[in-house]
Amino acid sequence: IKLTIIDRDGETHIVDAPTDMGMNVMEVVRAYELAPEGTIGICGGMAMCASCQCYVINGDEVELPEMNPDEEAMLSEAFNVKDNSRLGCQIHIEPSLEGLVVQLAPES
Ligand code: FES
Repeated sequence: IKLTIIDRDGETHIVDAPTDMGMNVMEVVRAYELAPEGTIGICGGMAMCASCQCYVINGDEVELPEMNPDEEAMLSEAFNVKDNSRLGCQIHIEPSLEGLVVQLAPES
């Protein structure tokens, strides 16, 4: 599927994300090196660091998974949280996400 990722410098990247590799949005960002090593995915995708926080720009156009309690808890104490914040590591790449647009939250 195609994802649009706006990096922390405001640059837009349209990338291909496979639905059959068990990847999540954080891992896609890392795979395409859209954020410097060590600034995203610090907890390894355990919903424990918020380094993968992103803002979902077009949440009304794609079907996002519900937040799980771990994600909710982490976002309740993270910095720079907005109404459309999600943890990239908790969004698994599925066909329903075709066209998803996310912006990486500032490093904190
Ligand atoms: Fe740590 Fe997502 S990688 S919360």
